[in-house]
Amino acid sequence: MGDVMTASEASATALTGQVIDRLEQCPDPRLRELVGGLIRHLHEFAVEQALTEPEWMAGIRFLTDVGQMCTDQRQEFILLSDTLGLSMLVDLINHGAGSSATESTVLGPFYVEGSPWRSNGDAITGDLGTQPLLVSGHVRDTAGRPLSGATVDVWQNATNRLYAVQDGAQSPENLRGRFHTDVDGAFAFRTVRPVDYPIPDDGPVGRMLQATRRHPWRPAHIHFVVSADGCIPVTTHVFDSASPYLESDVVFGVKQSLVRTLVEHDPAVEPEPAGVNGRWYTVDVDIALSPAS
Ligand code: BEZ
Ligand code: FE
Repeated sequence: MGDVMTASEASATALTGQVIDRLEQCPDPRLRELVGGLIRHLHEFAVEQALTEPEWMAGIRFLTDVGQMCTDQRQEFILLSDTLGLSMLVDLINHGAGSSATESTVLGPFYVEGSPWRSNGDAITGDLGTQPLLVSGHVRDTAGRPLSGATVDVWQNATNRLYAVQDGAQSPENLRGRFHTDVDGAFAFRTVRPVDYPIPDDGPVGRMLQATRRHPWRPAHIHFVVSADGCIPVTTHVFDSASPYLESDVVFGVKQSLVRTLVEHDPAVEPEPAGVNGRWYTVDVDIALSPAS
């Protein structure tokens, strides 16, 4: 096509300009910038792809289905953002490299506020099952000073792959809890080894994954939200290094710094910890928080 615009390219460019110009009276400069940028990229996308009318209509139907799938319990738009990598892109823009703080990742849809307060060393489930996991660590600031009284809010799935909030058979408080770090910034809890699981794929996002031949799996992980006075809180995970899905997490949430080896222990070699029968696993989770100012 060279440098010369066709008549339809010229009209498309003029139309895009007209639509953006219509924002002239917008009193909020940031809103104007955001809506203008969105219009420009949407128009560029349609032109670049030579979008057909049936394709445009299919897109409208898909977004309508995504909206209609949303309830108080199900946020299909965030799931769409997660699976298109937008959530992690926003995470990268806002919590990018250059800090020694623990890296963040997606919150996910299974966070429930107000988890029970527990004491260090407690189990977050009534049954440690066949693969008990002992989690321990410290919360410090990025200068290495222990943060006493920090809050460590954790949640994870059960061995049937489901979070308590998805599964009427589990107690609503199963596999979640809040802990306060001790004077040394230490915390500890007992749990079961988390397992790989598919994100909810019975809606339009699941259809999008299937149509594009993508799998719906996330690598096994434990969620953490850690906060302390005077520090920036972090929303993060600890991923099991043994998962086959680390390289292909459906929501692109894995960062190498968050992957940990769950160390296996043999009762023939070491005495079992209290409440554990047979083999068990341990993992160290040290969290570093940036100062707020
Ligand atoms: C989760 O890890 O709980 C999750 C995150 C994003 C989408 C679905 C689930
Ligand atoms: Fe999760």
